[in-house]
Amino acid sequence: MVKAVVLGASGGIGQPLSLLCKISTLIDDLALFDVVNTPGVAADLSHISSKAKIEGFVAAKGDMKGETEETESAKKNALTGADVVIIPAGVPRKPGMTRDDLFNINASIVKGLIEACAKYCPKAAILVISNPVNSTVPIAAEVLKKAGVFDPKKLFGVTTLDVVRAETFVQDISGERNTSKVDIPVIGGHSGATIVPLFSQAKPSVNIPSEKLDALVNRVQFGGDEVVKAKDGAGSATLSMAYAGFRFAESVIKAMKGEKGIVEPTFVYLPGVPGGEEIAKQTGVDYFSVPCELGPSGVEKANNPLGTANDYEKKLIDEAIKGLKTNIETGVSFAKK
Ligand code: NAD
Ligand code: LMR
Repeated sequence: MVKAVVLGASGGIGQPLSLLCKISTLIDDLALFDVVNTPGVAADLSHISSKAKIEGFVAAKGDMKGETEETESAKKNALTGADVVIIPAGVPRKPGMTRDDLFNINASIVKGLIEACAKYCPKAAILVISNPVNSTVPIAAEVLKKAGVFDPKKLFGVTTLDVVRAETFVQDISGERNTSKVDIPVIGGHSGATIVPLFSQAKPSVNIPSEKLDALVNRVQFGGDEVVKAKDGAGSATLSMAYAGFRFAESVIKAMKGEKGIVEPTFVYLPGVPGGEEIAKQTGVDYFSVPCELGPSGVEKANNPLGTANDYEKKLIDEAIKGLKTNIETGVSFAKK
């Protein structure tokens, strides 16, 4: 039996993500929590004749910070017994903003929700979507450490949308329309230059003319901005993110159920996962997205993609590391305050 929980379930990502979870055959129980509107979203989804039993939990009226006893009990009811918690709670960008501009609001939201996870479902796999991922994941790790329940193998920053974008945008060059046939590792972090697609390691290999490579890499790194601009003040990627978040959650659940051979790039705490220590030494950062082999207890092995990256990609990796150092430090010091 698998129980999944979506925190921030009434939002632009939360609603389509909850829909995908509701129709998944891998999920038996689905709990939705948000500070607004979850009873309505849950009632709506409950009319779908798929197997997952769904319940909605909402914060006390007007308690946008989630601080009252009533809200605490809603979180407790949503999270108790959870195997997988997916977190798309928090504000999205508007044109002209960077993901780091979201830090002031989203850092506290993520901190509060992770504190609840530590209390009510300390053994669950936690999938963080809320931006800036490069900082919210270190916050989550620090909160879990402080509570004495940190299992690095089960804390994941969701960077799958970058992988999905790489798979999609490369089609303009390859002409291949079936993305399920291409596997492109995207490593580093989740914002601008910290996102590093490794097209040289695509499987099957893709021949990218050198004059097209810069533009392709740039489009993957700044794909989020493309959507923010097109939505013109109405938010950032929601539908493609729901797809990506669900795709990653499915992989985590399948691996939990014993399926072998599942490898997904994800932003993890390197010193705490098998194979990660060496990557942390090489990069000089504790958090990095790398292809991870998943198993019943989460990350079984972080694969090191650094040795096989070509010189062009090595320069991108160096640039990514610079940005990541600051982002990670910001998250860690916020959580320690
Ligand atoms: P949204 O504003 O549409 O939805 C966010 C939801 O979070 C709202 O329903 C809101 O009520 C809820 N919320 C706020 N505080 C909460 C709390 N304390 N507890 C529970 N719920 C709370 O935003 P969105 O478009 O769904 O984006 C959500 C987040 O995901 C943003 O931070 C965005 O930047 C991020 N995002 C990440 C990726 C990624 O690749 N990791 C991709 C897209 C968006
Ligand atoms: C994305 O990559 O689409 C998300 O991180 C949202 C954003 O702010 O760009």
